[in-house]
Amino acid sequence: MKTALVIGAGAREHAIARRLAGEGWAVTCAPGNAGIARSLPCRPVDATDGAAVVKLAREIGAALVVVGPEAPLVAGVADALCAAGVPAFGPSAAAARVEASKIFAKELMDEARIPTASWRAFDRPEEALAHARALHGRVVVKADGLAAGKGVTVSQELASAEEAIVAALVRHDLGEAGRRILLEELLPGRELSLMAVCDRTTYRLLPLAQDYKRAHDGDRGPNTGGMGAVSPPPETVPYAAEQLAELAIAPMLAALARRGSPFRGVLYAGLMLTSDGPRVLEYNCRLGDPETQLLVERVEGELGEAFLAAATAGLLGITLRERELWAVGVVSAAEGYPQRPRLGDPVSGLDEAEALPGAHLLYAGLAGDPRRPVTAGGRVLNAVGVGASLAEARERAYRASDLVSFRGRQLRRDIGGGGNR
Ligand code: AMP
Ligand code: GLY
Repeated sequence: MKTALVIGAGAREHAIARRLAGEGWAVTCAPGNAGIARSLPCRPVDATDGAAVVKLAREIGAALVVVGPEAPLVAGVADALCAAGVPAFGPSAAAARVEASKIFAKELMDEARIPTASWRAFDRPEEALAHARALHGRVVVKADGLAAGKGVTVSQELASAEEAIVAALVRHDLGEAGRRILLEELLPGRELSLMAVCDRTTYRLLPLAQDYKRAHDGDRGPNTGGMGAVSPPPETVPYAAEQLAELAIAPMLAALARRGSPFRGVLYAGLMLTSDGPRVLEYNCRLGDPETQLLVERVEGELGEAFLAAATAGLLGITLRERELWAVGVVSAAEGYPQRPRLGDPVSGLDEAEALPGAHLLYAGLAGDPRRPVTAGGRVLNAVGVGASLAEARERAYRASDLVSFRGRQLRRDIGGGGNR
């Protein structure tokens, strides 16, 4: 039996680990969390410490290390594994810049003629404020660097654009990540997540998904890390996934290779379908969270082998197909998420929810005794439902979700129920 090490601590990593275990891999998660530890071995590790990850991979004899989150990738964990001769699925720090620097990503998009919102970069507040005024405040303000989901302000009027500019460039609220910002044209439309497994030169597409980023029903409230997702997208997409990949994935892979940073891992393009056609909003250097929780239900083929091939010899001979089923994921978040999540509340109902047919739970913010865990993060867990129809998948996801209880549990009731405009 081959051993895989999955690096990360969230529901995305739980989904990857569960899928690989189902394909016959012996899987360890590091650091994982108390929820993942209910069914899979977890080992403590600082996920951003390359030497520590290499040591653990060697100790357990990992044939493959899958790095889930961006922070370890940007910190060079995949480079450390490669240098040590351990197959790593995830890009080098240099290629991960496509997510770590939004300005770098925009430069590459322009160079490769990838359709995206028009933009300008600023490091001086007066110039940024003047530009925002010229656009009457209808502008998206983005920190250049990684800001844990807090770096983007979509503004419809001048006051909020000014506030975002001042927060980043004057008060330095976002630290180094916000030393440089970009101001972008605001694009109306519907968002889609397009992901591809890449081996430096070629790629295999994963099923399309749609996530729900706002905290409250009807796409109201603050942006979050994601309150749920659905795959395939509930409304018909007027483009083939291959067509979108020709536009967003292939040219970016080529551009990164030209820069001497070929990309290996999952390249994620956040797309906006506008009335003028698809536009790329951003790139991520990893699988999406919470989309991955659903993709693993819909990919047919050996995903672990595909990751291993991408990390080693290449994707030649690897096929990934799409299963004709629906998958819906509903996040249960802590009270006060995303601003100030309440932590430490006991969680119950997990055994009952885990026993349901057509549904399962994936764990994120849980700590303590795996049999009696307590909340330990903003997003606590995902309930995933699969079915032959969207209605069936939704019903199963919400049934599992509603068996879980903890004080102040916060969730959206409209996941899979339409657009995310
Ligand atoms: P990003 O991290 O760049 O994907 O931005 C986070 C979220 O902000 C996206 O998922 C969109 O919902 C929104 N957003 C980003 N850029 C734009 C844009 N140019 N126009 C409209 N909304 C945007
Ligand atoms: N679901 C959006 C992301 O993973 O960044």
